[in-house]
Amino acid sequence: MSDPYANLAAEDAALQARIADAMDARCLDPAQVAIRQEYLGDLTLPKGAFAVELGSGTGHVTKDLMTLAGAEQALGIEPSPVMVERANQHFADEPNLSFRIGDAKQTDLADASVDLVLMHTLLCHVPGPEDAVKEAWRVLKPGGILAICDGDYDTATAQIADFDPLNQTIRFMINQNVTNLWVMRQISGMLADLGFDLGRRRGHSYVAEGDAAYFMTVIDRGADRMAETGVLFPETAAALKTEAQKRLKADTFFGFMSYVSQIARKP
Ligand SMILES: C[S@@+](CC[C@H](N)C(=O)[O-])C[C@H]1O[C@@H](n2cnc3c(N)ncnc32)[C@H](O)[C@@H]1O
Repeated sequence: MSDPYANLAAEDAALQARIADAMDARCLDPAQVAIRQEYLGDLTLPKGAFAVELGSGTGHVTKDLMTLAGAEQALGIEPSPVMVERANQHFADEPNLSFRIGDAKQTDLADASVDLVLMHTLLCHVPGPEDAVKEAWRVLKPGGILAICDGDYDTATAQIADFDPLNQTIRFMINQNVTNLWVMRQISGMLADLGFDLGRRRGHSYVAEGDAAYFMTVIDRGADRMAETGVLFPETAAALKTEAQKRLKADTFFGFMSYVSQIARKP
Protein backbone atom coordinates (compact mmCIF):
# COMPACT_ATOMS: atom_id res chain seq x y z
CA MET A 1 0.00 0.00 0.00
CA SER A 2 1.30 3.45 -0.80
CA ASP A 3 1.27 6.02 2.00
CA PRO A 4 -2.35 7.31 2.08
CA TYR A 5 -1.19 10.62 3.59
CA ALA A 6 0.68 11.34 0.35
CA ASN A 7 -2.65 11.78 -1.47
CA LEU A 8 -5.34 11.90 1.19
CA ALA A 9 -7.90 13.55 -1.06
CA ALA A 10 -7.95 10.37 -3.18
CA GLU A 11 -8.81 8.10 -0.23
CA ASP A 12 -12.39 7.23 0.66
CA ALA A 13 -14.22 9.56 3.01
CA ALA A 14 -14.33 7.03 5.88
CA LEU A 15 -10.53 6.62 5.87
CA GLN A 16 -10.02 10.39 5.68
CA ALA A 17 -12.36 10.87 8.66
CA ARG A 18 -10.50 8.17 10.64
CA ILE A 19 -7.19 9.88 9.86
CA ALA A 20 -8.65 13.28 10.83
CA ASP A 21 -9.75 11.81 14.19
CA ALA A 22 -6.23 10.45 14.75
CA MET A 23 -4.72 13.84 13.87
CA ASP A 24 -7.01 15.59 16.32
CA ALA A 25 -6.07 13.08 19.05
CA ARG A 26 -2.36 13.57 18.41
CA CYS A 27 -2.54 17.37 18.17
CA LEU A 28 -4.41 17.71 21.46
CA ASP A 29 -2.19 15.28 23.41
CA PRO A 30 -0.38 17.49 25.99
CA ALA A 31 2.93 15.72 25.35
CA GLN A 32 2.62 16.58 21.66
CA VAL A 33 1.72 20.19 22.46
CA ALA A 34 4.89 20.30 24.60
CA ILE A 35 7.00 19.24 21.59
CA ARG A 36 5.54 22.05 19.48
CA GLN A 37 6.08 24.50 22.33
CA GLU A 38 9.73 23.42 22.54
CA TYR A 39 10.66 24.32 18.98
CA LEU A 40 8.11 27.04 18.14
CA GLY A 41 8.12 28.82 21.49
CA ASP A 42 11.53 30.45 21.19
CA LEU A 43 11.27 31.74 17.60
CA THR A 44 11.48 35.50 17.19
CA LEU A 45 9.18 36.90 14.53
CA PRO A 46 8.75 40.50 13.36
CA LYS A 47 5.67 42.44 14.51
CA GLY A 48 2.61 41.58 12.42
CA ALA A 49 4.22 38.39 11.10
CA PHE A 50 2.44 36.19 8.56
CA ALA A 51 3.03 32.45 8.98
CA VAL A 52 2.02 29.48 6.84
CA GLU A 53 1.73 25.81 7.69
CA LEU A 54 2.14 23.47 4.71
CA GLY A 55 0.23 20.20 5.23
CA SER A 56 -2.04 21.67 7.88
CA GLY A 57 -4.34 18.67 8.42
CA THR A 58 -7.06 19.49 10.95
CA GLY A 59 -5.49 22.86 11.79
CA HIS A 60 -4.33 22.72 15.41
CA VAL A 61 -0.66 23.16 14.53
CA THR A 62 -1.48 26.11 12.26
CA LYS A 63 -3.05 27.80 15.26
CA ASP A 64 0.22 27.25 17.16
CA LEU A 65 1.85 29.61 14.67
CA MET A 66 -0.04 32.39 16.45
CA THR A 67 -0.25 31.07 20.02
CA LEU A 68 3.25 29.55 20.31
CA ALA A 69 5.34 31.28 17.62
CA GLY A 70 3.71 34.72 17.94
CA ALA A 71 2.55 35.28 14.34
CA GLU A 72 -0.30 37.75 13.87
CA GLN A 73 -1.85 35.91 10.93
CA ALA A 74 -1.64 32.25 9.99
CA LEU A 75 -2.70 30.24 6.96
CA GLY A 76 -2.88 26.46 6.63
CA ILE A 77 -2.49 24.89 3.18
CA GLU A 78 -3.64 21.31 2.75
CA PRO A 79 -4.67 19.16 -0.25
CA SER A 80 -7.49 17.22 1.43
CA PRO A 81 -10.87 19.01 1.40
CA VAL A 82 -11.96 16.81 4.33
CA MET A 83 -9.09 18.16 6.47
CA VAL A 84 -9.64 21.76 5.35
CA GLU A 85 -13.33 21.49 6.25
CA ARG A 86 -12.50 20.00 9.66
CA ALA A 87 -9.94 22.78 10.31
CA ASN A 88 -12.45 25.46 9.31
CA GLN A 89 -15.00 23.93 11.69
CA HIS A 90 -12.52 23.87 14.58
CA PHE A 91 -11.41 27.47 14.13
CA ALA A 92 -14.39 29.30 12.65
CA ASP A 93 -14.10 31.91 15.42
CA GLU A 94 -10.49 32.85 14.70
CA PRO A 95 -10.43 35.81 12.29
CA ASN A 96 -6.65 35.71 11.76
CA LEU A 97 -6.50 31.98 11.07
CA SER A 98 -7.54 30.52 7.73
CA PHE A 99 -7.21 27.32 5.73
CA ARG A 100 -7.30 26.55 2.08
CA ILE A 101 -6.78 23.68 -0.31
CA GLY A 102 -3.35 23.58 -1.92
CA ASP A 103 -0.07 21.75 -2.40
CA ALA A 104 3.13 22.34 -0.48
CA LYS A 105 5.09 22.14 -3.74
CA GLN A 106 3.03 24.84 -5.47
CA THR A 107 1.30 27.15 -3.04
CA ASP A 108 0.36 30.12 -5.25
CA LEU A 109 1.66 32.39 -2.50
CA ALA A 110 3.61 35.43 -3.69
CA ASP A 111 7.41 35.35 -3.73
CA ALA A 112 9.03 36.60 -0.50
CA SER A 113 5.69 37.13 1.26
CA VAL A 114 5.91 34.91 4.37
CA ASP A 115 7.80 35.36 7.67
CA LEU A 116 7.55 31.74 8.88
CA VAL A 117 6.86 28.48 7.04
CA LEU A 118 6.13 25.39 9.12
CA MET A 119 6.10 21.74 8.05
CA HIS A 120 5.00 19.59 10.98
CA THR A 121 4.90 15.88 10.16
CA LEU A 122 4.48 16.71 6.48
CA LEU A 123 7.74 15.83 4.76
CA CYS A 124 7.76 12.14 5.73
CA HIS A 125 4.67 11.81 3.49
CA VAL A 126 5.94 13.79 0.49
CA PRO A 127 7.76 12.07 -2.36
CA GLY A 128 10.45 14.53 -3.49
CA PRO A 129 10.51 16.58 -0.25
CA GLU A 130 13.11 18.96 -1.73
CA ASP A 131 10.41 20.42 -3.99
CA ALA A 132 8.39 21.47 -0.92
CA VAL A 133 11.52 22.94 0.67
CA LYS A 134 12.26 24.89 -2.54
CA GLU A 135 8.72 26.27 -2.47
CA ALA A 136 9.27 27.38 1.14
CA TRP A 137 12.43 29.17 0.00
CA ARG A 138 10.50 30.95 -2.75
CA VAL A 139 7.72 32.25 -0.51
CA LEU A 140 9.89 33.19 2.48
CA LYS A 141 11.04 36.77 2.90
CA PRO A 142 14.79 37.28 3.26
CA GLY A 143 15.45 36.52 6.92
CA GLY A 144 12.31 34.38 7.05
CA ILE A 145 12.26 31.16 9.07
CA LEU A 146 11.55 27.60 7.99
CA ALA A 147 10.62 25.25 10.86
CA ILE A 148 10.44 21.52 10.17
CA CYS A 149 9.49 18.81 12.62
CA ASP A 150 8.80 15.16 11.93
CA GLY A 151 8.92 11.78 13.55
CA ASP A 152 12.15 9.83 13.61
CA TYR A 153 10.09 6.80 12.69
CA ASP A 154 12.69 4.12 13.22
CA THR A 155 12.42 4.90 16.94
CA ALA A 156 8.65 4.29 17.18
CA THR A 157 7.86 1.39 19.48
CA ALA A 158 5.30 -0.21 21.77
CA GLN A 159 7.68 -3.02 22.68
CA ILE A 160 7.94 -3.95 26.35
CA ALA A 161 9.89 -7.21 26.08
CA ASP A 162 11.81 -9.35 23.57
CA PHE A 163 9.60 -10.60 20.72
CA ASP A 164 6.61 -8.55 21.91
CA PRO A 165 4.05 -9.08 19.10
CA LEU A 166 2.15 -5.85 19.86
CA ASN A 167 5.08 -3.92 18.41
CA GLN A 168 4.39 -5.36 14.96
CA THR A 169 1.25 -3.21 14.72
CA ILE A 170 3.39 -0.07 15.11
CA ARG A 171 6.02 -1.23 12.64
CA PHE A 172 3.35 -2.25 10.12
CA MET A 173 1.53 1.05 10.48
CA ILE A 174 4.76 2.93 9.74
CA ASN A 175 5.61 0.60 6.87
CA GLN A 176 2.23 1.35 5.30
CA ASN A 177 1.82 5.03 6.18
CA VAL A 178 5.20 6.74 5.94
CA THR A 179 6.91 7.49 2.63
CA ASN A 180 10.33 8.44 4.03
CA LEU A 181 11.23 7.16 7.52
CA TRP A 182 14.58 8.94 7.45
CA VAL A 183 13.59 12.43 6.41
CA MET A 184 14.73 14.14 9.63
CA ARG A 185 18.11 12.43 9.36
CA GLN A 186 18.47 13.83 5.81
CA ILE A 187 16.91 17.26 6.12
CA SER A 188 19.88 19.34 7.30
CA GLY A 189 21.90 18.34 4.22
CA MET A 190 18.96 19.17 1.96
CA LEU A 191 18.47 22.60 3.56
CA ALA A 192 22.16 23.47 3.41
CA ASP A 193 22.32 22.47 -0.28
CA LEU A 194 19.42 24.81 -1.03
CA GLY A 195 21.18 27.76 0.66
CA PHE A 196 19.40 27.91 4.01
CA ASP A 197 21.34 28.89 7.11
CA LEU A 198 20.85 26.09 9.59
CA GLY A 199 19.48 26.94 13.02
CA ARG A 200 18.83 24.72 15.95
CA ARG A 201 18.21 20.97 15.57
CA ARG A 202 16.58 19.27 18.51
CA GLY A 203 15.28 15.87 19.52
CA HIS A 204 11.94 15.59 21.33
CA SER A 205 10.94 12.44 23.19
CA TYR A 206 7.30 11.44 23.06
CA VAL A 207 6.03 8.95 25.60
CA ALA A 208 2.33 8.08 25.44
CA GLU A 209 0.64 9.06 28.68
CA GLY A 210 -2.80 8.62 30.26
CA ASP A 211 -5.22 6.98 27.84
CA ALA A 212 -2.52 6.95 25.11
CA ALA A 213 -5.23 8.12 22.72
CA TYR A 214 -2.92 8.70 19.76
CA PHE A 215 -0.90 5.51 20.17
CA MET A 216 -4.13 3.52 20.43
CA THR A 217 -5.17 4.91 17.02
CA VAL A 218 -1.81 3.75 15.62
CA ILE A 219 -2.21 0.26 17.08
CA ASP A 220 -5.83 -0.06 15.93
CA ARG A 221 -5.05 1.14 12.42
CA GLY A 222 -1.92 -1.03 12.21
CA ALA A 223 -3.78 -4.15 13.39
CA ASP A 224 -6.70 -3.47 11.03
CA ARG A 225 -4.29 -3.04 8.15
CA MET A 226 -2.60 -6.35 9.00
CA ALA A 227 -6.00 -8.02 8.74
CA GLU A 228 -6.98 -6.17 5.53
CA THR A 229 -3.75 -7.19 3.82
CA GLY A 230 -3.97 -10.81 4.95
CA VAL A 231 -0.93 -10.71 7.24
CA LEU A 232 -3.18 -11.76 10.15
CA PHE A 233 -6.60 -13.31 10.47
CA PRO A 234 -9.08 -10.69 11.69
CA GLU A 235 -9.40 -12.49 15.05
CA THR A 236 -5.64 -12.26 15.62
CA ALA A 237 -5.61 -8.55 14.73
CA ALA A 238 -8.53 -8.02 17.13
CA ALA A 239 -6.59 -9.87 19.84
CA LEU A 240 -3.66 -7.45 19.44
CA LYS A 241 -6.03 -4.50 19.84
CA THR A 242 -7.43 -6.13 22.99
CA GLU A 243 -3.88 -6.67 24.26
CA ALA A 244 -3.20 -2.93 23.94
CA GLN A 245 -6.41 -2.03 25.79
CA LYS A 246 -5.62 -4.53 28.55
CA ARG A 247 -2.12 -3.10 28.95
CA LEU A 248 -3.62 0.36 29.29
CA LYS A 249 -5.97 -0.82 32.05
CA ALA A 250 -3.15 -2.69 33.78
CA ASP A 251 -0.79 0.31 33.48
CA THR A 252 1.66 -1.77 31.47
CA PHE A 253 1.22 -0.05 28.12
CA PHE A 254 4.31 1.70 26.74
CA GLY A 255 4.47 3.78 23.58
CA PHE A 256 7.41 5.90 22.48
CA MET A 257 8.74 7.83 19.51
CA SER A 258 11.37 10.50 18.99
CA TYR A 259 10.60 13.61 16.99
CA VAL A 260 13.28 15.88 15.53
CA SER A 261 12.90 19.58 14.75
CA GLN A 262 15.14 21.69 12.53
CA ILE A 263 15.05 25.47 12.27
CA ALA A 264 16.52 27.18 9.21
CA ARG A 265 16.68 30.75 7.94
CA LYS A 266 16.61 32.14 4.41
CA PRO A 267 19.61 34.49 4.31
C1 LIG B 1 0.41 13.65 9.35
S1 LIG B 1 -0.57 14.90 8.68
C2 LIG B 1 -0.05 16.28 9.65
C3 LIG B 1 -1.09 17.37 9.71
C4 LIG B 1 -0.69 18.52 10.64
N1 LIG B 1 0.52 19.15 10.22
C5 LIG B 1 -0.56 17.99 12.05
O1 LIG B 1 0.57 17.83 12.52
O2 LIG B 1 -1.58 17.71 12.66
C6 LIG B 1 0.17 15.23 7.11
C7 LIG B 1 -0.68 16.16 6.25
O3 LIG B 1 0.06 16.56 5.10
C8 LIG B 1 -0.83 16.60 4.02
N2 LIG B 1 -0.06 16.51 2.76
C9 LIG B 1 0.41 15.41 2.14
N3 LIG B 1 1.04 15.75 0.99
C10 LIG B 1 0.98 17.10 0.90
C11 LIG B 1 1.44 18.05 -0.04
N4 LIG B 1 2.09 17.69 -1.16
N5 LIG B 1 1.20 19.35 0.19
C12 LIG B 1 0.56 19.75 1.31
N6 LIG B 1 0.09 18.89 2.24
C13 LIG B 1 0.29 17.58 2.03
C14 LIG B 1 -1.76 15.44 4.24
O4 LIG B 1 -2.96 15.58 3.50
C15 LIG B 1 -1.95 15.50 5.75
O5 LIG B 1 -3.04 16.28 6.12
